[in-house]
Amino acid sequence: MKHLLKLADLSREEILSILNLADQLKYERKNGIDQTGYLKGKTLIMIFSKSSTRTRVSFDVGITELGGHPLFLSNSESQIGRGEPVQDTARVLSRMAHGIMIRTFSQQEVEDLAKYGSIPVINGLTDYCHPCQVLADLMTIREYKGSFKGLKLCFVGDGNNMANSLMVGAVKMGMKFAIACPEGYEPDAQLMAWAKSEGDFFLSRDPVEAARGADVIYTDVWASMGQEGEQKKRAAAFAGITVNDAVMKAAKKDAMLLHCLPVHRGEEVTEEIFEAHAQEIFDEAENRLHAQKAVLVKLMR
Ligand code: CP
Ligand code: NVA
Repeated sequence: MKHLLKLADLSREEILSILNLADQLKYERKNGIDQTGYLKGKTLIMIFSKSSTRTRVSFDVGITELGGHPLFLSNSESQIGRGEPVQDTARVLSRMAHGIMIRTFSQQEVEDLAKYGSIPVINGLTDYCHPCQVLADLMTIREYKGSFKGLKLCFVGDGNNMANSLMVGAVKMGMKFAIACPEGYEPDAQLMAWAKSEGDFFLSRDPVEAARGADVIYTDVWASMGQEGEQKKRAAAFAGITVNDAVMKAAKKDAMLLHCLPVHRGEEVTEEIFEAHAQEIFDEAENRLHAQKAVLVKLMR
């Protein structure tokens, strides 16, 4: 494994090995074991063309705890925002640092950074996928459920970056995957075709139908970063695509609810259901730190 550009590039064994290391790093941190030897003296460049709280903090704190150093580059304050080609940025950063984490719009930009640079590149979210989040999600599911065997994950919402990565992650781990989304808001067509051929995939327009017998319900915002202008149109299209009592009742009794955050209460999930599952959702948010540290160690050590 040289980069983390998308989950589809990783084998089931590689994903499991990241999750196992994440569990170990979490244990070490909770027990006060010094971790600064892992990546002593290594610099991680963090490029952000979109907003972030969890991703930025987990990578910044993560690399620091591992003995390395974070360097934040915003799109607007670096030459990237003034149009310096990604081929040049990749080659410059490769001569000064040991890894790049990037959050941006286009998946191609992330793939190009990896292609033209010579250091590991980590995808911290694009319009296409969010592999780092899904590693933390898988870690959390395994923590709560013990294993992935026989589980069903149901995504209620937009067929966006989260849906794409969750679908890949679920199928690779052997979970059933169901999605409830409005017409015209399905996940990536190629990924859906892959999920249908490799796994157990179900698409419905009805969240209650999709959630039937699910062990994990997952949801995300109706309008992602960059789609703010579509908020009104999307609110109309997604009416009813909400995690509410009826959806949770259709799922298994002990079903967990996950959300990558930030959440829009009253849209994709009701306030009551969100708060009833706050424990697992904020465990999931914490696991971003441990999962991201595992990715850093795997790629940069
Ligand atoms: N879930 C997630 O990636 O959060 P941020 O946008 O705050 O990084
Ligand atoms: N789908 C959301 C995820 C945020 C973590 C977005 O792209 O804005």
